[in-house]
Amino acid sequence: MKKVEDYVRSIPDFPEPGIIFRDVTTILQDADGLHLAVDEILDMLKDVDFDVVVGPESRGFIFGVPVAYAAHKGFVPVRKKGKLPCETVSMEYDLEYGSAVIEIHKDAIKPGQKVVIVDDLIATGGTIEAIIKLIEGLGGEVVKICFVMELAGLKGREKLSGYDVDSIITYEGN
Ligand code: PRP
Ligand code: MG
Repeated sequence: MKKVEDYVRSIPDFPEPGIIFRDVTTILQDADGLHLAVDEILDMLKDVDFDVVVGPESRGFIFGVPVAYAAHKGFVPVRKKGKLPCETVSMEYDLEYGSAVIEIHKDAIKPGQKVVIVDDLIATGGTIEAIIKLIEGLGGEVVKICFVMELAGLKGREKLSGYDVDSIITYEGN
């Protein structure tokens, strides 16, 4: 029986020397890989009471939408700056390679809503930390954070202490 990890392609020295890029496209392009990954995230959520899934552009969309669909919840996109058409709140954050600004529609999260965040990867944790601030700033409550992969060597989890964080695959390095 194959595991999700078996579908990840690891590419040495991309995008920089010394970095191993963990490629999720090889999970997605395989029917069984895609089912396995989405089902494992759904399994993380089986005892979680939540209202909506939030996922960051772009790889968070890929995994967040099928999870929301299967759980019969709505999906709220967090997008890179300038892409959302209505009134937004934004947050600047440091990325593994540089910095960026992300935005969410101001009316997308209602006060008191229970939110699950889904993304493909936690590296430094900067992206998710910024998303938590956006959700909480709108009055939402982050009840669970689900990743396909975690790069434990970058200690992103330390930024998320106090939150319920789960990943399908943990890589010890970076
Ligand atoms: C990657 C990845 C995560 C984030 C993790 O996204 O998909 O969202 O970086 O890094 P962090 O934990 O250090 O914040 P990226 O911003 O490269 O964009 P993409 O999803 O559009 O490829
Ligand atoms: Mg991303």
